[in-house]
Amino acid sequence: MQTISRLDALRSAVGALKSGGKPGMRTLALVPTMGALHEGHLTLVREAKKRADHVAVSIFVNPRQFGPNEDLDAYPRRMAADAALLETEGVDLLWAPTVEVMYPAGYATNVSVSGLDAVLCGAARPGHFDGVATVVGKLFNQVRPDVALFGEKDWQQLAIIRRMARDLDLVAPFADAIIGVPTVREVDGLAMSSRNQYLTAQERAAAPALARAMRKAIAAVVRGAPVSPTLDGLRADVLAAGFRSIDYADMRDADTLEDMLVFDGRAARLLVAAHIGKARLIDNMAVA
Ligand code: PAF
Repeated sequence: MQTISRLDALRSAVGALKSGGKPGMRTLALVPTMGALHEGHLTLVREAKKRADHVAVSIFVNPRQFGPNEDLDAYPRRMAADAALLETEGVDLLWAPTVEVMYPAGYATNVSVSGLDAVLCGAARPGHFDGVATVVGKLFNQVRPDVALFGEKDWQQLAIIRRMARDLDLVAPFADAIIGVPTVREVDGLAMSSRNQYLTAQERAAAPALARAMRKAIAAVVRGAPVSPTLDGLRADVLAAGFRSIDYADMRDADTLEDMLVFDGRAARLLVAAHIGKARLIDNMAVA
């Protein structure tokens, strides 16, 4: 695996991987990350290997997606351990730019995906999704992957990135080549997340109630139950299970993230963010 942190070196390494001696013959998948890799990231890498001849992973802790009250300095950085993991997974290229390479002095451009960024997690984190869209747009231009993979766990992020690819007519990767990989779950249904480590044993035992309540609500809506009272029931179930508070529990159009008060056959997603102990857990599922 080559580890690269300069743009000129990246361009020649990508060129060599893609041509592989025969121009146009090799495909490249990109898995963008902020490092501190866990099983969820490795699932993306394994899926990427099935989708392309070569796999690049980026590790960049992106300052533009942290708010003033979010501790950028405390974000875990484990470059050596991450690189060793990626090497074991057979990744070809690790793109690890510095902040100066990503945002050189005078950097002034922002990518903003209006509307989709104002709801759900975006409502509580103004500017966060601008930071995500900006850095992902840059990563796409830097690495020029044929496909890029993101976890469905961050559904809003995935919807925003797909919208950006459509709106900016990105050719590499074009919107349909942005692949959402289903959320990896523990055996009891809890969505895997680095935040689960903040749960006490008691909170960890209570946490799967979130996914259970979501499944119950989805089954009810699909059977024809009205959406709003069903979501009220979901909130009550989650709070009764030991969650402290709920930021949102919404059914939304899977692509536009428009609130859906009626299940009308459009592709819909149930999205929830709730607090338990010190952790804020998010989860989402297809309504089908
Ligand atoms: O999901 C993440 O880890 C980040 O938001 C991403 C997509 C790598 C952009 O910094």
